[in-house]
Amino acid sequence: MLLHVPNVLTRDELAHLRATLDAADWTDGRETVGTLGAQVKRNEQLPDASPVRAELARIVLAALARNPLYFAAALPLKTLTPRFNRYTGGGEYGFHVDGAVMNLAQGEQLRSDVSCTLFLAEPEEYDGGELIVSDTYGEHEAKLPAGDAIIYPASSLHRVMPVTRGARIASFFWVQSLVRDDSQRRMLFEMDGAIQRLRASNADAEAVLQLTGVYHNLLRRWAEP
Ligand code: NI
Repeated sequence: MLLHVPNVLTRDELAHLRATLDAADWTDGRETVGTLGAQVKRNEQLPDASPVRAELARIVLAALARNPLYFAAALPLKTLTPRFNRYTGGGEYGFHVDGAVMNLAQGEQLRSDVSCTLFLAEPEEYDGGELIVSDTYGEHEAKLPAGDAIIYPASSLHRVMPVTRGARIASFFWVQSLVRDDSQRRMLFEMDGAIQRLRASNADAEAVLQLTGVYHNLLRRWAEP
């Protein structure tokens, strides 16, 4: 499932992130991928151990935690501490699949089910830089307003088009979802949305309660661990 999550960050948070990132020290983005990824990746990242990354990641995680649309779609169990990247001067990231298992702190691991990109530059600030996600329904393109996020299956082939003017700045991270399977997660998301709409329209309360029960029982059946 590909989903646009609008307004993840407030204007103040976005301004703070951008001011900090515009003054930050960047490093070669190939440091955090394997040899295959390194052949197609040309961008810059904040170093993993950078205190700036830690501070900004906390802001992103807090913003996600208060976003019901993001929560309903990703059903997050574990989230990788968000990273930050920048594409300039023709920088791009060719077609690749994200690593399936990632290392967290304290020897813990995360299975990447959901990939997320949070855009931190306005589309007018740069040319190119579209995120292209290729799935069974074809290729989808995303270039969103600053402060908006896109989530998509980590299993998908995807790429970032060359940035030919300006700078594309973003945060990106992976989520291990309570529900591993993308199609099951999508059904739960759609059901959750339908229940919210029924509730808001003062539909038959008993029927809404019954549907809510089915939602939770499906989640109980599909949730891991
Ligand atoms: Ni990727």
